[in-house]
Amino acid sequence: MYPFVFLFAAYLIGSVPSGLIIGRVFYRTDLREYGSKNIGATNAYRVLGAFAGLVVLLMDTGKGLAGVWLGQTAGHLFSLHDTIYFMILGGLLALVGHSASIFLKFKGGKGVATGLGIMLYLAPWETLIVFAVWCAVVAATRFVSLGSVVAAVLMPILMWVFDEPTAVLIFGITAAVIVVIRHKDNIIRLLHGKELKVKRLEKK
Ligand code: G3P
Repeated sequence: MYPFVFLFAAYLIGSVPSGLIIGRVFYRTDLREYGSKNIGATNAYRVLGAFAGLVVLLMDTGKGLAGVWLGQTAGHLFSLHDTIYFMILGGLLALVGHSASIFLKFKGGKGVATGLGIMLYLAPWETLIVFAVWCAVVAATRFVSLGSVVAAVLMPILMWVFDEPTAVLIFGITAAVIVVIRHKDNIIRLLHGKELKVKRLEKK
């Protein structure tokens, strides 16, 4: 029973809509009404500025780290075998919480920053490489969404190359599927040449 309290906490923490809170409380702005209308760090930067974008990025990344940590703690506290499964489950629940938040009628963000936190914990070396590729794609194209989709797909490939445990690899594939699906509208906009670049927008 008790381990599941930790896992539920991972979902609740993942559900905290950082971008929405920062926007509403400090800028009196609902990110869902501007730019890409996403509540993530990219749109926070686009609409509110670099500081807000950085804070949202750190908070959303922290939710992913917290989810894996909660799973790990549950495993250790209750002397469960195979703690890695609980770490993965904690991370997955944080990711699901971010994308389908209990506080937003099961709507939410696209999972990139939260996924970053989870992957940093589970597979740090692959994450550093993926982050470098993400930076290169975004610098070259100014499309964060393209960098995110490339990063999501690259992650499980690198996990396979680095010979990660099967459970971690399966999680990498699952997370990639979630992130790509959450970027469905971005992909359509990219294909039609209508995607928003990462730059400050004037609020309309
Ligand atoms: O992390 C989300 C990013 O990949 C795309 O954000 O606001 O351009 O849809 P946005």
